[in-house]
Amino acid sequence: MKKINLSRVKPIGGYLDLQLNKSAEFYPLLLKLNTGRNAFEYILKVRGYKTVFIPYFTCEVLLEPLRKLGISYQFYTINEAMDPVIDFEPGDHVGFLYTNYFGLKGDTIKFLSKQYKNLIVDNSQAFFSEPLPGVDTFYSCRKFFGVPDGAYLHMDSQMRLKLERDHSLGRFSHLITSIDQGIESGYAAYLENNVSLSNNPIRGMSLLTNRILSGVDYKTCRYRRNSNFMFLHEVLGDINHYSFDASSLNGPMVYPFVSSSKQIKQRLLENRIYVATYWPNVLDWTTKKMFEHYLTNHLTALPIDHRYTHIDMRRILNVLKPLL
Ligand SMILES: Cc1ncc(COP(=O)(O)O)c(C=O)c1O
Repeated sequence: MKKINLSRVKPIGGYLDLQLNKSAEFYPLLLKLNTGRNAFEYILKVRGYKTVFIPYFTCEVLLEPLRKLGISYQFYTINEAMDPVIDFEPGDHVGFLYTNYFGLKGDTIKFLSKQYKNLIVDNSQAFFSEPLPGVDTFYSCRKFFGVPDGAYLHMDSQMRLKLERDHSLGRFSHLITSIDQGIESGYAAYLENNVSLSNNPIRGMSLLTNRILSGVDYKTCRYRRNSNFMFLHEVLGDINHYSFDASSLNGPMVYPFVSSSKQIKQRLLENRIYVATYWPNVLDWTTKKMFEHYLTNHLTALPIDHRYTHIDMRRILNVLKPLL
């Protein structure tokens, strides 16, 4: 009988494992990596940029790869539409990172991609915005779905880095605690997971994260996001100090509500409505006079994701109403 390599065959029998839906990934053809910041690092390594322009209004973890690779960076500002104020010229070995803020900046990205060949699009807040051909683009999966890590990367380059695969087993505590004991009980573990994602090598996406992402109902997730977003926008659009075009929504991350009222986050918290601050580090990077400083203090990122319906949106609006 022909000898088979037993380490390569599928085991049969034994205990049953966690049963997850299996359909298809949203980006089956993109590179699968462990984190968004490491997807950014991948781009930096392959392109060999010497300097990168990055917005003041972004997450500090993006500095990790720049520091690791010893690449210099310069901050640029954004205007009231959250478009970049371009008073610099990104030359040949200079990267230009722009964030698709809240998933609402698709038109700006189209425009920039025609002008700047070294554009790097951070779609961490825009999972459903498909990459443009020839434009280096990365995604962070945990901002949109119940996974602890995972990233996609679109890059046309033939050069590929050889990578080991990551393992996510130790990063699930907050995801399973929240199902078993409620979201508040898992919050400490969520913060610990954020810390544990720092300073890891670039690795391939774990099998566990990949399996979960293969079972997500993307159509429904996108639909709910669009629908909840519009429900809030119909009420808040006229009083929102951030004005934007909502005509081509594509599964945005949150509803960005900018208001001069200072009590919003506290009042929401008291009602068990939790909103993240984008991004606390911006307060250290900017002066009080800067728009980014104002945005960080006054933008409330209202949740609109697939867990919620219009009933939940109405509850958010009821809490906000007395404050507006
Ligand atoms: C805009 C933005 N880009 C990139 C990242 C990095 O993603 P990851 O945590 O998957 O490295 C984050 C947050 O972590 C972010 O807020």
